[in-house]
Amino acid sequence: METQHPDVEKILFSETEIQSMVKRIGKQISEDYADKDLVLIAVLRGAVVFMGDLMRSIECPLAIDFMAVSSYGDGTKSSGVVRIVKDLDMDIKDRDVLIVEDILDTGLTLKYLMKNLLHRHPASLEVATFLWKDVEGRETAIEPKYVCTHCPDEFVIGYGLDYAERYRNLPYVGILKPEVYS
Ligand code: XMP
Ligand code: MG
Repeated sequence: METQHPDVEKILFSETEIQSMVKRIGKQISEDYADKDLVLIAVLRGAVVFMGDLMRSIECPLAIDFMAVSSYGDGTKSSGVVRIVKDLDMDIKDRDVLIVEDILDTGLTLKYLMKNLLHRHPASLEVATFLWKDVEGRETAIEPKYVCTHCPDEFVIGYGLDYAERYRNLPYVGILKPEVYS
């Protein structure tokens, strides 16, 4: 059992669980992209930890690139309008692009990003998300092809996910104690 950070109320997914989920997705991607021209695009900053593990579990040749986006609006709710803060360095025309995301909530951020990337004419465009916060009665704006696991409608931290830029380095995913917010 790993040591739990004092600010963490509950561990949702342990390091061991996460590692086996990521390996499973990596194996699937390795098969699906065996004869493709794969480019992984991670969305900064939350997806870096997932990206690091995922790319090492994929066996076919691949390239990586990064994008950073910032959401317009009050910051607590997804507005669906995002600004590209850091664009790709690579040309993705005719390549098989897989967006790597930490967490899919409403899906509005990725919907916007995918629309933007489609204008660059990739051969294919899919999404791999570590977590999918699927809320009953609510439709997500996009359908991810690869999902490590579903997660409850709570604010989660760890494994790349932050609260005020902290906790990204925790090797597990957890829920914070309420007093940390106040
Ligand atoms: P949408 O709703 O557009 O937003 O899919 C996804 C983005 O919102 C952030 N997000 C979270 N970040 N813990 C976090 O650290 C969470 O529980 C959480 N829920 C949403 C995240 O930046 C993601 O890319
Ligand atoms: Mg994110």
